[in-house]
Amino acid sequence: MFSLMESALDAVGASDDLLDEAHLAIREADLHRRTGRVIDLIGLITEATGLEAEVGEVCTIETGRGRASVPAEVVGFRQGRTLLMPLGDSVGIGPGAKVIATGQPLKVDVSDALLGRALDGLGRPLDGKGPIEHASWRPAEAAPPDPLSRPRIHERVSLGVRSLDAFVPCGRGQRIGIFAGSGVGKSSLLGMIARSTSEEINVICLVGERGREVLEFMQRDLGEEGLARSVVVCATSDQPALVRLKAAFTATAIAEYFRDQGRNVMLMMDSVTRFAMAQREVGLAIGEPPATRGYTPSVFAMLPKLLERTGTSPKGAITALYTVLVDGDDMNEPIADAVRGILDGHIVLSRKLAHAGHYPAVDVLASVSRLVGEITTPDVRAAGNEVRKLMATYKEKADLISIGAYQPGSDPLIDAAIEARHPIDGFLKQLVTEPSSAESADATLSQLAQLSGTWEPPVVDGYLVDPNASIAAGNGADGGMPLHNAIPPLHIPS
Ligand SMILES: Nc1ncnc2c1ncn2[C@@H]1O[C@H](COP(=O)(O)OP(=O)(O)O)[C@@H](O)[C@H]1O
Ligand SMILES: [Mg+2]
Repeated sequence: MFSLMESALDAVGASDDLLDEAHLAIREADLHRRTGRVIDLIGLITEATGLEAEVGEVCTIETGRGRASVPAEVVGFRQGRTLLMPLGDSVGIGPGAKVIATGQPLKVDVSDALLGRALDGLGRPLDGKGPIEHASWRPAEAAPPDPLSRPRIHERVSLGVRSLDAFVPCGRGQRIGIFAGSGVGKSSLLGMIARSTSEEINVICLVGERGREVLEFMQRDLGEEGLARSVVVCATSDQPALVRLKAAFTATAIAEYFRDQGRNVMLMMDSVTRFAMAQREVGLAIGEPPATRGYTPSVFAMLPKLLERTGTSPKGAITALYTVLVDGDDMNEPIADAVRGILDGHIVLSRKLAHAGHYPAVDVLASVSRLVGEITTPDVRAAGNEVRKLMATYKEKADLISIGAYQPGSDPLIDAAIEARHPIDGFLKQLVTEPSSAESADATLSQLAQLSGTWEPPVVDGYLVDPNASIAAGNGADGGMPLHNAIPPLHIPS
């Protein structure tokens, strides 16, 4: 058959390339329809016999009474039978229903027209604005870039949240986790970042959220202007486990599409814990043994597969933020531990701060960016450490100070920490609607560092940086609380 086609193509003068393509297409083509029959359906798993399909392949299960057929993915095999999990509602599947293999993995439609759109977990439009125009496709699951081809991170991204830009600076292509219990402000913080980050495109993935929260996030947290440069992928908690799982891969594939065009992308996933829970449901359904806290071994294998896809690549970078819902505020629960080990930094939100109305409730002393050395100047780093020192000193002595057991004047560092407390708090608190930038955060940070009384302001080109100018610039740009009210006048030696 090949030789016949070869001579036919030769006759019309086709090139070797075309010939190769034709060979490949024939080799890959499904030349017969592979079908099977449903014989069992227990819980989330449909079992089929006689089906020749690979794991990860999408099949369709025909349903009775004129209903639309149900797409399903092959998730495993047991005693010669194929285990499928529906990518939708399994209503209408009956014994003997026909299962047809498509020969394809799950694909996602991608195009620039995705910006401003809301999609479901499988990448289908949810917002009633019609199909995605000029779409090409990519597989939802893909391999991470080759580790040796990944450029090192050296550029800074402005997150637009002062406490983060100053203390947990983020590099382009860095992956950071946001760890907190429920209701501490993870989603609000993501919304704040999505609106004011310096990155060009946001891909936002809401996995296992409450249905109510999706519109709330899009309208309140993201706003019209934020949405225009964002793609929202969501699979609410009522969706089948496999769809919640796919939402994370779909969003990552969309971020990769924009990255491959060389654009700067920010991927935000809320939350990676719900992704892990979805994989646990899938794992348990196909008979995996439960391990730590009921999570199956495949959960821990799946996490790096997802999280390693973002970051730098030779074509561009995906900066990624993943929220981690920590059960009972236990930062060492297994998913939090696994995710922290994979990512390049973590932001911890504290319930205590949230209760005190300190928003965003970032626990600066518990948060770390592993790339701070690569993306900030030594001056900024030193200033950050100085302010951390003041905060740590105050925290350590807070009990003594509050009961009046500390005698002012006995330790200059504690005196400075008490003095600096309100200015630092004023700097860390920020309204959701209040934009800021990394530059202004750095400038104010070096002013705050001077409150310790031992820190020397950096010398720039032989001149001392004028603190008042920086304060005015920092806060003018932020539009927030004027810091010259919060910080006492500084004495700068001339
Ligand atoms: N920056 C903020 N400013 C004011 N209130 C906030 C802020 N962040 C969170 N909150 C309050 O905390 C509640 C829960 O926040 P949310 O982001 O939904 O938490 P999570 O996603 O961690 O469950 C919000 O409804 C809001 O009342
Ligand atoms: Mg939330």
